[in-house]
Amino acid sequence: MKPFALRCEYLTDPLGLDVLSPRLNWKLEPSDRRGVAQRAYQILVASSRELLDHDRGNLWDSGQVESDASAHVHYAGAALPSGTRCCWKLRVWDEARTASQWSDPARWEMGLLQPSDWTAQWIASPTAGGDQSMIPTPYFRKEFLIDRPVAGARLHVTARGLYEFSLNGQQVGKDIFTPGWTDYTKRIQVQTYDVTAFLHPGANVAGAILGDGWYCGYVGWFKERQHYGERPSLLAQLEIEFADGERATIVSDGSWETGAGPILQSDMLMGEVYDARREMPGWDAAGFHSDDWCPALIVPDDGARRVGMRSEPVRRQLEIKTVSVSNSIFDLGQNIAGRVRIKLTAPAGTTVQLLHAEALNPDGSLYAANLRKAAATDSYTCKGGGEEIWEPRFTFHGFRYVELKGFPGEATSDMVTGIALYSGMDETGRFECSDELVNQLQTNIQWGQRGNYLEVPTDCPQRDERLGWMGDAQVFIRTGAFNFDVAAFFTKWQGDIADAQADSGEFPAAAPVMRRSNMLREGGPAWADAGVICPWTVYLCYGDTAILAGHYDSMRRFLGWIESIAIDGIRSHPDGSVWGGFGDWLALDGSPGKGGATPNDLIGTAFYAYAARLMGKIAAVLEKPGDAAEYEALFKKVKAAYQRRFITADGLLASATQTACVLTLQFDLAPEAMRPQILKSLVSSIERNDNKLSTGFVGASYLPHVLTRGGRSDIAYKLLLQKNWPSWLYAVTQGATTIWERWDGWTKEKGFQDPEMNSFNHYAYGAIGEWLYATVAGLDTDPASPAYKHAIVKPQPGGGLTHASARLNTLYGELASRWDIQGETLTLKVTVPPNTTASIHVPAAQDASVTEGCVPAAQAPGVEALGWKNGAAVYRVGSGTYRFAARQEPSRKT
Ligand code: BGC
Repeated sequence: MKPFALRCEYLTDPLGLDVLSPRLNWKLEPSDRRGVAQRAYQILVASSRELLDHDRGNLWDSGQVESDASAHVHYAGAALPSGTRCCWKLRVWDEARTASQWSDPARWEMGLLQPSDWTAQWIASPTAGGDQSMIPTPYFRKEFLIDRPVAGARLHVTARGLYEFSLNGQQVGKDIFTPGWTDYTKRIQVQTYDVTAFLHPGANVAGAILGDGWYCGYVGWFKERQHYGERPSLLAQLEIEFADGERATIVSDGSWETGAGPILQSDMLMGEVYDARREMPGWDAAGFHSDDWCPALIVPDDGARRVGMRSEPVRRQLEIKTVSVSNSIFDLGQNIAGRVRIKLTAPAGTTVQLLHAEALNPDGSLYAANLRKAAATDSYTCKGGGEEIWEPRFTFHGFRYVELKGFPGEATSDMVTGIALYSGMDETGRFECSDELVNQLQTNIQWGQRGNYLEVPTDCPQRDERLGWMGDAQVFIRTGAFNFDVAAFFTKWQGDIADAQADSGEFPAAAPVMRRSNMLREGGPAWADAGVICPWTVYLCYGDTAILAGHYDSMRRFLGWIESIAIDGIRSHPDGSVWGGFGDWLALDGSPGKGGATPNDLIGTAFYAYAARLMGKIAAVLEKPGDAAEYEALFKKVKAAYQRRFITADGLLASATQTACVLTLQFDLAPEAMRPQILKSLVSSIERNDNKLSTGFVGASYLPHVLTRGGRSDIAYKLLLQKNWPSWLYAVTQGATTIWERWDGWTKEKGFQDPEMNSFNHYAYGAIGEWLYATVAGLDTDPASPAYKHAIVKPQPGGGLTHASARLNTLYGELASRWDIQGETLTLKVTVPPNTTASIHVPAAQDASVTEGCVPAAQAPGVEALGWKNGAAVYRVGSGTYRFAARQEPSRKT
């Protein structure tokens, strides 16, 4: 047994870290043995690889620590000043007290922690665009001499805008859209790269290209650009350590030169315009000179905090081949966020345009009406003289189809390759079952996530929007955490939420906040509440208490703000002066507007109660019993107010919408005795509607869970398998490759929905994914032992499915379940990762004998029988693989 997958603050070998006592994670190798557990660990952290190889931890030797913790173990060694290099490894002792081998080494390095570590200055081009006009993208260069052998070099770099940095003509790092999107007026991420191999003796050249990006380009639907500042600027500090121990620092300052080149325009929404004839060969190599270049302008620092990266940057994740659908239109076969790379040969001066769209009109042309103001058009002018390959730098689009306009010859599909861009996150989950349409739905959900987890969780990647909408993010986060490892992604975004919080305590509708417009400071129910729901979900899925502790005061202020605006315990009260929220966004239940028929004050008060209850749980996790009691009391108070206003003495809801029933049940807002009555109304509303839902963003995500909890998973399955719209599978039957914003984005009867709001890549309704993993396949965590340290494996077969399976790479390793129904027998295979335990609920007829392997389950090694519960035999197990089999109730047979 050897520990592996060593991570520091969720990241693999991070450089430029600014967490003073970083948390370390590792996994234990799976074994054929059951009940593998860690009893103790020893961590060594050394300042060099040599010391570590000699088993010396000069920065920290934890000694043998009796503990089963293999996640979130805080570094507790010597203080780590700026630039400290830390190499680390560990060994563990298992349940039999056998010591493992040492793990392979891993590392992290501290960044520039003190403002005084920085001597670089912000530099920019003297020319700036206007609030509605774009200018050519500035290039920067600086030549410097290296006269001695280099032992090591680190580049600390960031930009207000986007940058691409090179050393001696070679791009540093593979990251896209660095430094990433934050509220640049408050906090700006710095990247650190090991650039030792980029330098050579003699003249060296540092080069940078700056894009407008989120900083000063178009963002959202706003008419004006320049949300955070008027022009992009660069801050770079190259620290070189020579073999003789001397050091040198090259920094951005007034000695850098700047000029414009082939990128005539570059914007996230509008696209990029590139004229290859204007390339400047050698601009990033020694000896370049051009009269058109001038000294860079030094621009002031605006006091924003410089922080290390907490998440993985956006990268080119996948390449996708295209097929031609006409002379000039190509199909990726998949709706993505990204762009295309073209390869073409044409005479100098030939300009080709690349237009992007998610769908085609009935006449075969691109359906671009739903892009609104986003031109999503790239343009390339050839320099001639042979094959040219080009991909834009500082833009991305949401699309499946590309039109190549202006190419003089016959365009072929090998000229156009799709490139999917999204934030670095490991794929952790798989779900699969016997229904191919549901499998395609799962694929679409994953692609919806890839297309929208780009720096921040966005609503959609195609139109002039692409904002970090909080409502969308919170409904989907649990699904997101099944599909991919999103711990680091949400750690970073929670910082954006904190920066976006108003002084009075309210969270916004979207984060980061757009400074120029200061838009939607009050997020409204279910949107603002993401500020509490998301960190709680990160805690559940990853056992992360730091995100709770770090944002506890901010969440408390938010709850305080709700209390201050609520009237008699009712949030979004019609008599109040505060905006009531988006409602059950895009619900189909008939009220005018986009928020459906469920009243805002019902949604508002339901989420008030929910947020109070979550705060109680968070306070309990953080061992603040006084606060926990205070919030539980607040929950009860709000629940009472909710009942007074929305539930009659007979158990009728004042609003009869599906979402009203769902929220009342999901958040435990009705008296216990009235639950059956409310569930009955919900079920009959669905049945009256031909087994169809009418909920919007707010209700849809909880709907299947509420039905399952009420013992009506049969109805949840009917909704899941419904093929007529509104339903999850309708879009699938229409060839969707992502999740649509609206249940009726396109219908056979009506064609396309209103183009003003008709995204075909909006993950919110993909929140059904959580139910697929947690209920159909049955993988869940025990909230009392989060991060699947104790897993609850409780599949609930139904809907005529004959098998379903899910795998989840948890912080401890792979947790998996697969059930098959054959005739009367259900078999359930479960894998539990090392150092964890699980409760396994095997669905079985009441009198059935359950086997594990070839023996009665209760006698199987490592299996403890816990009795029967709700139609399942329950067992407790440690790590290992288990095969249960049991006869089913006749109703469950397929
Ligand atoms: C977005 C949504 C978002 C909403 C606010 C829309 O324009 O696309 O997904 O949550 O505005 O209700």
